Amino acid sequence: RKGGFEHFMLKEIFEQPDVFQQSFRLANGHNSTSMLLRRARGISVIACGTSYNASLLFRYFAEKECGVPVRVDLASEYRYLSTPEDEVVIAVSQSGETADTLSALKKAKDSNCQTIAITNVQGSSITRIADHTIYTGAGPEMSVAATKSYIAQVAAFSGLLAGMSCSDTSSVECSVRQAIEESLLTDVSEAVSLCSKVSTLFYVGRGIFYPVALEGALKMKEISYIHAEGYAAGEIKHGPFALLSKETPAVAVCLPGDGYQSMLANLREMKARGTPLIGIGYGDDIDLKEVADVCIPVPKGDAYAQVAAVTVVMQRIAYYTALALGRDIDKPRNLAKSVTVE
Ligand code: M6R
Repeated sequence: RKGGFEHFMLKEIFEQPDVFQQSFRLANGHNSTSMLLRRARGISVIACGTSYNASLLFRYFAEKECGVPVRVDLASEYRYLSTPEDEVVIAVSQSGETADTLSALKKAKDSNCQTIAITNVQGSSITRIADHTIYTGAGPEMSVAATKSYIAQVAAFSGLLAGMSCSDTSSVECSVRQAIEESLLTDVSEAVSLCSKVSTLFYVGRGIFYPVALEGALKMKEISYIHAEGYAAGEIKHGPFALLSKETPAVAVCLPGDGYQSMLANLREMKARGTPLIGIGYGDDIDLKEVADVCIPVPKGDAYAQVAAVTVVMQRIAYYTALALGRDIDKPRNLAKSVTVE
């Protein structure tokens, strides 16, 4: 069942080129849902864990590409916050059974919001509550760590944005596939050897790479049990500086685009405090090479391709670190695939 792979997680990581394509197409076909979003007075997204990280990413893309403000809340916090009427609320859950997400979705319905579910499981509870459902095309995910279901959610969001005609995404499918395929083969061994020797790690990024950093850190802590903290790079100086030393490496996403120069400046500040840096960026980036101790190249491409490539690299760093530490990768301690209690 693992198709020759040692763990489901690795098999699922390798399925991502197809999963992105399928999920993008499924969501892109939802014209009525895209239209609903386009006409919405406000858009809110609620989710937990990895699904929350994918939702944060949607916020960056939606605001940049469509100029539509998007509120993103942790489903477990939603009950303590106001729910404006007339909003369109998107609940994102791979399993469709996460208790916090279901409760938040019910609250949104009770407030007369139009609701959309994005889920990977046909007929799951979330589909019975939401007014509209978009299925992601990831297929069953066996590993507790969400990998292909995350890429599927990113694809679904980009398909929806394409449907809202906010951007020309005709080339996205192809560029993302190439980026994922290439990143499945990138050598991550130096990063793994650094990570597997420490007890704390930072993951930093700016803009779209901030939620990607959060997701990278979540994957690392979940399966390797190394304390990994995702941070917006600009926030590191507002507290975490006190923790920086040669014992606290950082995985840093530094790709040309918004915030690139600021990111380099943040990395130099971290380096000056002894932090070993694992830089994920373009292979020909001399500035990044100068500041980073280890450089992991990702292929050049559009923003979606960059996100997908960095995600795959981070998933593989987490996987091989957990493997080196002998962890129970598909079934990490204390975790379940779906969390059905609040
Ligand atoms: O099924 P859901 O997407 O609602 O699950 C939410 C989280 O429990 C889940 O994403 C969790 O964070 C992952 N196992 C992380 O890899």
